[in-house]
Parts: sequence; C-alpha cells; structure tokens
Amino acid sequence: MPPAAATRPAPSDLAFVPFVSVDNMMRLVNAIGVEPFLRELAAYIHADFLRWPEFDKTPRVASHSRDGVIELMPAADARHYGFKYVNGHPKNMREGYQTVTAFGVLSSVANGYPVLLSEMTLLTALRTAATSALAAQFLAPRDADVMAMIGNGAQCEFQALAFRAINGVNRLRLYDIDPNATAKAVRNLTAQGFDVVHCLSAEAAVEGAQIITTCTADKQYATILTDNMVGSGVHLNAIGGDCPGKTELHRDILLRSDIFVEYPPQTRIEGELQQLPKDHPVTELWSVMAGTAKGRRDGKQITLFDSVGFAIEDFSALRFVRDMLETHPHFDRLDLLADPDDPRDLFGMLIRAR
Ligand SMILES: NC(=O)c1ccc[n+]([C@@H]2O[C@H](COP(=O)([O-])OP(=O)(O)OC[C@H]3O[C@@H](n4cnc5c(N)ncnc54)[C@H](O)[C@@H]3O)[C@@H](O)[C@H]2O)c1
Repeated sequence: MPPAAATRPAPSDLAFVPFVSVDNMMRLVNAIGVEPFLRELAAYIHADFLRWPEFDKTPRVASHSRDGVIELMPAADARHYGFKYVNGHPKNMREGYQTVTAFGVLSSVANGYPVLLSEMTLLTALRTAATSALAAQFLAPRDADVMAMIGNGAQCEFQALAFRAINGVNRLRLYDIDPNATAKAVRNLTAQGFDVVHCLSAEAAVEGAQIITTCTADKQYATILTDNMVGSGVHLNAIGGDCPGKTELHRDILLRSDIFVEYPPQTRIEGELQQLPKDHPVTELWSVMAGTAKGRRDGKQITLFDSVGFAIEDFSALRFVRDMLETHPHFDRLDLLADPDDPRDLFGMLIRAR
C-alpha cells in the first residue's frame, strides 16, 4: 500500500525557487510605482552597461516561422546566468493573443541552481522602455519635451512613462493605423497626466517632435518613416524592427543618422541596420555611457537608437526584481528543483514518494 500523503517526504528548502507570477509582478510594480520602478530599473541597466566587457554575450537564439519568432536570450557574469524565453508574433493581436510574451530565469553561476523564475511579459515592456529612455539621456536633444509615438500597442504607454520618468517628456503625439489602438493609448496616457494629441497620420504625429519612437509590429520591411519626415536634430527611438525581414525606417534615414546599437552582432541581423552593408559604422551604446564614445554632438545631428532588445537588459531586469523582492516579498515559493536527501539518490526519492 502506498504511504498516506502526509508521510510523503516534503521538499527541502533547496527545492524551492522564488516565482514571480503576473499577479505578483503587478503587485510589485504597483507597490513601487510605475515611474519609480522604471527609474530604478534604468539604473540597474545603466550599471550593467557600464561593465559590459564583464559579460558572456551571444546574439539570441531565434527560431523563425512564417507567423513569428520564438527566441532564447542568455547572458551571464561571474555570479549570475540569466535567460529569457520570448516570442514575437505580429498577427497574434488580430487573433486575441499578445504579440510578445515572455518569462525568464536567473541562476547562480556557482552551482547552477535557479534563484528566480519570473513572468517577463510585463517586465519586457518595462525593461524595453527603461532602456529606450536611458539611451535617450545620451542621444536626444537636451531640451526635448515632445515625443511622437507611432504604433500604440502594448509597449506604447510603458515607453511614454519611461520618457517622462527619465527624460521629463510630457507631451505626446500618437498615431497608429488602427484608431482604436490610439484611442486606448490616449485614454490611458491622459489618465496618467500626459498632454496627448491623437494624430491621423504618421506625418502629423512627427510634426514638432524632437523624439520619434516607432513601436509598430509587422513582419515585413515596413516604411513607417520616410526620409522627408525626419528633420535635423531629431532623436529616433526605433524599437519595432527587431527581426530579420522586419524593419520600420526607410534606408535613406539611416544614411543621414548616427546609429547607436546594443550588441552589433545581433543588431546587424535583426535591426534597421540589416538594410545597410555589414561594415556600416555604428556606435555601441555602452561605450557612450562609459565615456569612450560620443553620444549627441550637436543640435543638428540625427541620432538613431536601433533597438532590438539585448539579453543584458533582461539580466538587469531579473537582477532588479530579485533585489526588490527582499523589501517587497511578492512571490511564491515554487517546488521547482528535485532535491533528494542523498544527491545521488534521485530514483530513491521518486520511489519513496509512492
Ligand atoms: N526592441 C525591443 O527591445 C523590443 C521589445 C519588445 C517589443 N519590441 C517590438 O515592438 C513592437 C511593438 O510591440 P507591441 O507589443 O506594442 O506590439 P502590438 O502588436 O501590441 O502593437 C503594435 C501596434 O503597431 C500598429 N501598427 C502596425 N503597423 C503600423 C503602421 N504601419 N503604422 C502605424 N501603426 C502600425 C498596430 O496597429 C499595433 O497597434 C513589436 O514589433 C515588437 O516585436 C521590441
């Protein structure tokens, strides 16, 4: 006869890994406040960019299909290893699914045990926005206070909040091919105290904007901005072109811009940069932060942050969340790791559980 449930060996403390569900992530972000969360997360990303050479880096591992992409994004330093599972399916939204969903793990390099498992759909939106706003601190015109946002889907409000929290931008000009998306964003952002204009074309949205954020989703070489729409002195924050065959900007804009990237081996495959020859000069964002390369030089220069999203940003986000759990314990203990009394007796543990 099997032993009663009460006599089954309970998992040891080593078996449990802190798990941040979507519900707990929302509690954590709301407890800290979205804008303070974005500012503090940006500080973690900044700190990790400053020690860029210490990281074990690789372009993400992408599995492409006709409908989208599923990617694994690993990065490690001497103490921690992190990875994110993330998808990108532009057609999803029309079928009632999200374009991007994600979860991730942070582990101890010393013994390989995970120290955190977390939802990362919300966290990706937050880290993408924090990275964009951090980049703009080094690249956007100093007096920028109007941002155009083309593509008003899931990422839009997070981007807006990060640019306010980190760069003081409070005036927004929004456009999406789907007016319902713009109406949603106008509603959400007006409620957050932004001065928002609902524009009827991308041309109208960029009028008078010193920063242009493109965050559209379309699995093709799209032209969201044409050359005539980008005046001198503008900072472009292009986040939607992040996959082979998926771009947002006309090539001529790239030829007039100074291009800043996260990790060149990945951006050359996935970013706007895929439209240019393999040796086109780019500047790595971390080196601008470290002071070894120039960011914005003058008021006429067009700067382009050709963002594709890099694993170190997810690593920073997981590290940040793990630290925040010490003061805001919004997590569950997940029985994730098999931990037999005798590390070699994995089979015995299975049989004793009958
Ligand atoms: N760079 C990064 O780190 C990073 C991170 C997350 C997401 N992304 C990318 O950002 C993009 C936006 O993601 P999301 O989660 O907000 O997607 P989403 O599907 O929720 O929103 C995309 C919006 O773009 C609009 N759109 C599509 N084509 C357009 C066009 N020609 N002009 C104007 N609007 C258009 C759609 O109507 C939709 O509202 C995706 O391409 C995603 O892959 C990049």
